[in-house]
Amino acid sequence: MAVEVSAPAKAILFGEHAVVYRKPAIAIPLSDLRARAVVRPASDGITISAKDFGKRYNITHSPIREGQEGYALQQAVLKTLEHIGVKPQDLVLEIKSDIPIASGLGSGAAVATAIVKAVAKFHGKELTDDNVNKIVYEIEQIHHGTPSGIDNTTIVYERPVYFKKRVWFLPNKTKHLKVGATMHFVIADTGIRAETKGIVADVRSAWKADKKTFNRLFNDIKKITKKARKALKNGSAEEVGKLMNENHALLEKMGVSSPEINALVQAARKAGAYGSKMSGAGRGGNIITIVPARKLEAVVSALKRVGAEHVYTTTLRKTS
Ligand code: MEV
Repeated sequence: MAVEVSAPAKAILFGEHAVVYRKPAIAIPLSDLRARAVVRPASDGITISAKDFGKRYNITHSPIREGQEGYALQQAVLKTLEHIGVKPQDLVLEIKSDIPIASGLGSGAAVATAIVKAVAKFHGKELTDDNVNKIVYEIEQIHHGTPSGIDNTTIVYERPVYFKKRVWFLPNKTKHLKVGATMHFVIADTGIRAETKGIVADVRSAWKADKKTFNRLFNDIKKITKKARKALKNGSAEEVGKLMNENHALLEKMGVSSPEINALVQAARKAGAYGSKMSGAGRGGNIITIVPARKLEAVVSALKRVGAEHVYTTTLRKTS
């Protein structure tokens, strides 16, 4: 029998990049934007079909080598099989995703999450979220080198998180976010694709070259993220917006924004958003903006007018 599993995209609200240096960050799942994995029985080993890219790999007959396209997909399947420890069945795994790649929305982690859950389920095993998260983090390392783990954690648990990476032998600190009032966000895509791995590596080089400046930037971001956690808890959207603006200014100083990102950030603010910032690794990808409900339409139109490729809205619901 075929099984189908999906996983959401994510957006970072506060603390990207600084989170790699063990500062706290806040992220939310984007439940309307998803990656899907469908597994069907087959008779010729294991085939992975990435329809969006027109690619098909039979990994039983032609294993994909490290560094080659499709390697992370193959590893998600193999690591799951290794983890569940059953005799692999012949199967076709079809992957479809609505999440734009290399745009800061966690498409790699969402695809990997859907694969891990679907392959386990197809073999009659249900993995705990903790176990899925461990496997997906290993796949993130293939994509990103030194990921903090915030993307996979937000996506696997599909919950807003306050996250802090810890040293390798301690579990990361993951707290589910408390939200005091329902808040509205708009996410807009510059249409420029940028690989997280390279940007994170550039930040590392810049940090090594000038630790004093970068440690100060990371610490200032940490203070903002902590204040944002309180503002979210108190339900103060206006304060959240102000803090997003401050976080964006620090990311600009870090050298990870771009003129295209800044154009969207400014357009949202001008159209009545409480605040806006880049989201994710930067140099392209998406911005996120917090908007009063009455201004949603105006902000969406303004972002489209200045050339956003896709515009999504999402709601962060008040927690009980
Ligand atoms: C990528 O979505 C967020 C970064 O902070 C990298 C990471 O946390 O692994 C830029």
